[in-house]
Amino acid sequence: MTAANLIAVAYLGASILFIVGIKRLSSPRTAPLGNLLAALGMGVAIVATLFHQNVVDFRGILAGVAIGGAIGAVAAARVQMTAMPQMVAVFNGLGGAASALVAAAEIVRQVGAGSLPSPFVSVPIVAGTVIGALTLTGSLIAFAKLQELMTGRPVVFPGQRVLNGLLALGLLALATSVVAQPQDLTIYWGLFALSALLGVMLVVPIGGADMPVVISLLNSYSGLAACATGFILENQVLIISGSLVGASGIVLTRIMCKAMNRSLANVLFGAFGGEIAAQAAGVTAARGSVKSGSPDDAAVILDAARSVIIVPGYGLAVAQAQHAVRELSDLLLQRGTQVRYGIHPVAGRMPGHMNVLLAEADVPYEQLVEMEEINPSFPHTDVALVIGANDVTNPDAHENPASPIYGMPILEVSRAKTVMVCKRSMSPGFAGVDNPLYTRAQTMMLFGDAKKTIEAVSSAIRAL
Ligand code: TAP
Repeated sequence: MTAANLIAVAYLGASILFIVGIKRLSSPRTAPLGNLLAALGMGVAIVATLFHQNVVDFRGILAGVAIGGAIGAVAAARVQMTAMPQMVAVFNGLGGAASALVAAAEIVRQVGAGSLPSPFVSVPIVAGTVIGALTLTGSLIAFAKLQELMTGRPVVFPGQRVLNGLLALGLLALATSVVAQPQDLTIYWGLFALSALLGVMLVVPIGGADMPVVISLLNSYSGLAACATGFILENQVLIISGSLVGASGIVLTRIMCKAMNRSLANVLFGAFGGEIAAQAAGVTAARGSVKSGSPDDAAVILDAARSVIIVPGYGLAVAQAQHAVRELSDLLLQRGTQVRYGIHPVAGRMPGHMNVLLAEADVPYEQLVEMEEINPSFPHTDVALVIGANDVTNPDAHENPASPIYGMPILEVSRAKTVMVCKRSMSPGFAGVDNPLYTRAQTMMLFGDAKKTIEAVSSAIRAL
């Protein structure tokens, strides 16, 4: 078998590992092995690429692997779980940058060598440049918003959409010119700069809390940019892996939009988190009186309960209360109480946030139940214990057509016999809207930080 054939077989094996790996990510039980298989696939693809005849010098590659690998390993080990979205944003951005730089290097090389790139090369060069540069700057803005290096509110100004439309038209004109006259590198660099500018302009009007959806979309873009690079370099595994990232990113984006009952257009152009949410926040807690209880009260109710559904949300992640919650559920299980967790697809701030968090505390997978599956159980459940979750439990999503979140699927906790809500105050959640659950007759608020409060409830149960 020739070296080229061996490389092709290795690429095929790597692609199969990617697909099997992604398939296994669909369940928390199979996800760790899925992740390993996909990483193994990437390892095979990298090693096979290093045997390619076009690789003339390993020194630069080894330096890149050492420096990049060290930075990546330290960053991944240090990052807080709640900061994972911004880390993914940076990684996406760097993927986009790599694709744009490969495209730039190729056109500069070909023009420098006096050869004119054919449209089969110049079209992928244009695609890799536009999508890659836009992904880089868009991801950096997403990172800055989530890291609070800039305002998380939508940055909007009069005429913004017209300006963005003109920029997009300018980009189209430059892209066509690069394909028609690839030898004129000034036009090419203009295209590069305008793409980078458009990435900034498209992401600044989007509110910080919508960034996870934007990051998922940019992830998809980084895959498309890599796919274009695959065509430039005639590298099949890059085409396949880029397409997989592009497709899975767009599927994830759709799932997130659907779970929030928002269209992608509304996320991208709706400036959610600006005026709408601010107006809605103005009506917070205007709907009646609130009953609040102490950890001791909660302990008595939980001790008497035969079935409990715990509903975790963003506040649980912020408070890092996963271990305290696991301890409480163990305590209840020891007393013969049925304990399950109701998982909303967009609870928290990133896909699978609650699953990852609870897995960290070794909560058994069989206790985690998806929203559709657990909803019919609430009417037969003694206590729904909501911990740091808000929007994903808001009955207005079903009952109030005037609510900004009307239509969003929710965990129907208000149908449980008793509802306990642990949060620090009456402040709204991500959507900035009032939650009438808190004034319902069967609801008791447990005000306080999730970790401290749940620890206090466990101590009170032990003392009973
Ligand atoms: P939210 O509606 O954001 O509510 C979280 C609640 O946690 C807040 O009301 C806050 O109230 C409370 N909290 C904060 N820190 C706390 C602490 N230390 N201890 C106890 N409570 C604390 O969260 P959710 O119910 O998980 O819903 C997620 C929201 O994010 C949805 O609107 C969803 O559409 C949106 N979103 C999600 C995603 C993904 S992929 N997950 C992506 C984009 C947007 P206090 O301040 O009163 O404590």
